[in-house]
Amino acid sequence: MPTTIFKETPKVTFFDAALEGSNGCDVVIHSEEAISPPNDFNDEQYYVHNHQIDHNLVLTGERKFILINPTWDEPHHVIYLNREMGALEIPIGTYHRSISGKEGSIVLNQPIRDKFFDPAKEFIPQKLNKLELIKARKSPPVYWIVENDQIKRLRFNHSERKAAIFN
Ligand SMILES: [Fe+2]
Repeated sequence: MPTTIFKETPKVTFFDAALEGSNGCDVVIHSEEAISPPNDFNDEQYYVHNHQIDHNLVLTGERKFILINPTWDEPHHVIYLNREMGALEIPIGTYHRSISGKEGSIVLNQPIRDKFFDPAKEFIPQKLNKLELIKARKSPPVYWIVENDQIKRLRFNHSERKAAIFN
């Protein structure tokens, strides 16, 4: 979901972050290196929503998002999200977690929530405890990066030891 930059000078950025249909506005601040949701001892934990579509826009810093969805042809994605990339949409049923670098990051999430949304149920960290989820997590990820102002998707070809850009 792209944002519209109104003005950008060396010290000022002014942009429209409005997102059509969004009925929430959440700010998630990571001070320094942080993971949401945090690991439970050695186990990775994920959020998965039933009544909310996320749209995560990085305001400052960089945040790596990991998306797992066994129903997708490509079930594992790693997105190096920064502001230029716009807001990352995370569909219902997608397991997701995010990790900040040493500097931390601030994310604005503008979700679309349905009438069954209940904050007590929507933000319970989950482990990947089903075979299809574990398989998806182990599948080679598609990496999303920005290069020359364009979003690129990469997959590493281990046999040729190089990265292939496929769109
Ligand atoms: Fe979320």
